[in-house]
Amino acid sequence: MKSYKVVSVVGARPNFVKLKPIHNVVEKVLHHEIIHTGQHYDFELSEIFFKEFNLPKPDYNLEIGSGFPGHQVGEMIKKIERIFIEKKYDLVLVYGDTNSTFAGAFAAIKSNMKVAHIESGLRSFDRRMPEEINRILTDNLSQYLFASTKTARANLEREKIFGKIYDTGDLSVEIVSEAKKLASKSRITKDLDLDLKNYIVFTMHRAENTEIDTSFLSIIRAFTSLSDVKIVFPIHPRTKKILEGKKLYQKLKDCKNVFMIPPAGYIDFIHLVKNAEKIITDSGGLQKEAYLLSVPCITIRRNTEWIETVTEGWNVSTDTNPDKIITSVRKWNPTKITQNQVFGKGNTSKVIKKIIIDEILN
Ligand code: UD1
Repeated sequence: MKSYKVVSVVGARPNFVKLKPIHNVVEKVLHHEIIHTGQHYDFELSEIFFKEFNLPKPDYNLEIGSGFPGHQVGEMIKKIERIFIEKKYDLVLVYGDTNSTFAGAFAAIKSNMKVAHIESGLRSFDRRMPEEINRILTDNLSQYLFASTKTARANLEREKIFGKIYDTGDLSVEIVSEAKKLASKSRITKDLDLDLKNYIVFTMHRAENTEIDTSFLSIIRAFTSLSDVKIVFPIHPRTKKILEGKKLYQKLKDCKNVFMIPPAGYIDFIHLVKNAEKIITDSGGLQKEAYLLSVPCITIRRNTEWIETVTEGWNVSTDTNPDKIITSVRKWNPTKITQNQVFGKGNTSKVIKKIIIDEILN
């Protein structure tokens, strides 16, 4: 099978996390290459993941960097297409919902290559989110749709999508299970002097939150009122830059209960999440991770594409409403402790490998 050439197009932090289990299973049987668009370039958002996950250096780094989305995606497509003209891959794998995901799928389809979308069918039904647009476009371009959940399949069926849908489960189950083992060695809670289960992990980087001043002011109001609650905030460079630009960074620093730290590597981050009392976030991936680690999650969005975490009782959606955030921190807790395997059994990478070998390349 090594004569078959498969390529993964990745570029941002959440792509690298999903790449790891797929690379591990695929490279054993197929020739697997990696194109890194360079969307994320800071050590903490990119290289650290390749190091921690023992991933090989990407075969290509396109060094696209940041920019207006049209420019960023356009540059990615141009450069990926150049590689695709030279190299004829038998299959292109794209992951999740980032700009790199869409660019990889678009360049592939225009180069007459097969595309499979991992984490297909997710919908928040919120078109203000760049990720929602990327999901819809990528799903519509892909011939093979690897649906993470039953809801994801139902979304794709409702949209009468062209590609073939496969129920694969979600990669997060195996990723979190592996990271949990390694996380026992992490020293981050000690280094930050945190009492286990006595702090909150907060993340916020979504464009629809960071670009609206009132959203952030609401968060600051909530955190000021929660002055007795320790809040750890690994701050994404986008958020930091925007807050500094709007002169809100200092306001947040003035909250003595908020501890801002640089973005953490995956192992440290999972250790932080696992030992937190609760999570407050606008991230998609973190909602799943919190669920899988049985940590209650407060989602500061109006909606979520990971609806199962809400129906299972482990996630509440508060938007950035300060009163709702405060009540959820102080009074809300999941009522049932048991969890159904809503993201699958933890064998998603193997299921995907089998589909690739038995159905796509055969
Ligand atoms: C991207 C994904 C988002 C994902 C997030 C995880 C899209 C549309 N969004 O958002 O779904 O949850 O990654 O981190 O693809 N920046 C740096 N250093 C970096 C990368 C970015 O400073 O290494 C700053 C730059 O100011 C840049 C801004 O962050 O302009 C936004 O970066 P971008 O890659 O466009 O999107 P993210 O917000 O990182």
